[in-house]
Amino acid sequence: MVQEEDNDYLFKIVIIGDSAVGKSNLLNRFTRNEFTEKTKATIGVDFGTKSIEIENKVITAQCWDTAGQERFRAVTSGYYRGAVGAMIVYDITSKVSFKNVTRWLNELREMADPDILIMMVGNKSDLDSAREVSTQEAQSFAQSHKISFLETSALNSSNVNLAFERLLTDIY
Ligand code: GTP
Ligand code: MG
Repeated sequence: MVQEEDNDYLFKIVIIGDSAVGKSNLLNRFTRNEFTEKTKATIGVDFGTKSIEIENKVITAQCWDTAGQERFRAVTSGYYRGAVGAMIVYDITSKVSFKNVTRWLNELREMADPDILIMMVGNKSDLDSAREVSTQEAQSFAQSHKISFLETSALNSSNVNLAFERLLTDIY
């Protein structure tokens, strides 16, 4: 049992990426084991926390989930302040959302700590028949940018915990 007072580390993680790629559902799957079929676009910022154990230490992830849509974004430098990890999410059925990962990397470069650790996530792996981004292509992109990469599904839970845990382990 993880208790609040046993908290050894608190890591702030930001979740970014285009609208509708599944950021909020990844957060809800990780922190509450929930998935919602039809989600409303995030307005402003949502939060979720979850504690996990790594090498007998309790690591609490404080996850910040922002709006992908420009008009709902309220991102100031405060959003990125103190963040030690970033999850950049795209949707494997949307080439555009993958192309835009470059834009999200640029935003991190401009606004976040230069040492921030990055995990790129290709979400909706359950929709393989509608895939527009190959695993191979994403893998070589991640390698060339020296960032971690996994494909996930918030719908069927595949790799969701692993993606957060790997990012937290990299930070730790
Ligand atoms: P913004 O808040 O606008 O930035 O969007 P978001 O990235 O938070 O996306 P959200 O989590 O709201 O998900 C958008 C839609 O995709 C919803 O209808 C979800 O049910 C659906 N969705 C999210 N993750 C998955 C997944 O892994 N598989 C499938 N099939 N659908 C998903
Ligand atoms: Mg959202």
